[in-house]
Amino acid sequence: MPTTLTPPRAPETPILGSFVPFAQDPPRFLHQLAQNHPTADLIHFTFLGINNYLILNPDLVREVLVNRASEFPKSQRDYGILSKFLGDGLVTAEGEQHRRQRKLAQPAFHHKRIAAYGDTMVDYAADMVAEWQAGETRDIAHEMYQLTLYIVAKTLFDADKSRMVEVADKVGQAIHVLQEVTNHDFRRPIQWPQWLPTADNRARQGAKGVLDETIHTIVDERRQQETADKGDLLSMLLLARDDDGKGMDDTELRDQLVTIFVAGHETTSNALSWTWYLLSQNPTAEAKLHAELDEVLDGRLPTLADLPNLPYTQMVIKEGMRLYPPAWTLTGRTATATTTLGNYTIRQGADLMVAPYVLHRNPTIFPEPERFDPERFTAEREKELPRYAYIPFGAGPRVCIGNSFAMMEAQLIIATVAQRFRLRLAADQRVEMNAQITLSPLDGLRMVVEERARNSQRQPHLTAELAY
Ligand code: HEM
Repeated sequence: MPTTLTPPRAPETPILGSFVPFAQDPPRFLHQLAQNHPTADLIHFTFLGINNYLILNPDLVREVLVNRASEFPKSQRDYGILSKFLGDGLVTAEGEQHRRQRKLAQPAFHHKRIAAYGDTMVDYAADMVAEWQAGETRDIAHEMYQLTLYIVAKTLFDADKSRMVEVADKVGQAIHVLQEVTNHDFRRPIQWPQWLPTADNRARQGAKGVLDETIHTIVDERRQQETADKGDLLSMLLLARDDDGKGMDDTELRDQLVTIFVAGHETTSNALSWTWYLLSQNPTAEAKLHAELDEVLDGRLPTLADLPNLPYTQMVIKEGMRLYPPAWTLTGRTATATTTLGNYTIRQGADLMVAPYVLHRNPTIFPEPERFDPERFTAEREKELPRYAYIPFGAGPRVCIGNSFAMMEAQLIIATVAQRFRLRLAADQRVEMNAQITLSPLDGLRMVVEERARNSQRQPHLTAELAY
């Protein structure tokens, strides 16, 4: 029997435990805990008597998320809150149901399939930029939100552009309301039953109604069409069959579409917003990005084929997600039985937290962790990182199914916009984190749009090319 150790504990008040400091600023609270115990593998804290462990050692992250994932399913509390609007889609399903759904959805995210979406991503980014005027101030967080919303709506449903805008706006608005009430739920120690006519429950019902009706209309229309494969994700989900030849029923389809819609745009939009912010504060990195774009693209719009030649663009995005991971913490995992993790005993029912925001600031792995330094992600240096020390997309059987989609989208959008513009933070813009389900800038991100001179000898000719 190995010796078991007691992990360090957060200093706490009776009964509430760490609830108040956690609720005030969750990522900072967790980061502070880690800083107070720089060599700890995990740290113990409580909420109203419930045991929580913040996992800090990448080897233990691997145990929880990968090697022993079935012993640590998603927490019932988080599951209960999320499933009120996501239903039983990929994010919230567990066990056999999750395995089946993942298998059915996987082909829709195959790299050959998503490669077809590259042109849509660039077209939509170019359309956005075409509206921008040099010298004006825009809320870049809003621009990124809208852009990624339209891209996911187009790639998911392949609606024509005018219809797509209507659908995206309607669904986007409903999802916004659902996210707000879900965020309130996460902050509440006790959940109200759904039948109670509270303001949040009524708002949830209304928004869910709009969402379900819109999605049912789209699915019904599609089922009546003759062409089975329209190249979008919906076609793939409709065509998917499990080993018994069984496809998704209407509820499964609804839950999957809502899940992908939700998981597939706000995360990417936040990754982009934070990257623009970090670039605006780091002129050397920004200049290097511009030099790469000028050299490789020389003024033309990027395509998928260019991505391998734009490594610095990718390094910038990776470093942005290191400092501001959109999924700042993963869904909590629960210990199904009293067990040993590393050298520690974990009690049955305890919640385990894996927080990329904290892991990515480990100073022994990322020296000067607050410094934005894309060079950390050169191919050679990335290979040297301990496994599971950098996990913006999670890990193991629940790793983000859309990670290649998201990286491709972020790289194409950064390349399209930065070809033509540099973004400067507006003088009066305060930048703070808003840690809800995802990590976004609290008061938006107003930035001044500046046209940039390209370092190209073919400039006059290329200016015409760039008049998208
Ligand atoms: C930068 C963008 C993104 C980030 C940082 C991100 C992050 C994550 C993370 C950390 C998880 C795992 C959560 C956990 O283990 O608790 C996850 C799961 C998931 N993501 Fe993403 N994601 C991004 C983009 C996308 C996109 C574009 C899509 C779809 C188009 C997507 C769809 C999903 C789905 C369906 C799951 C659940 C997978 C499962 O449990 O099997 N994500 N994402």
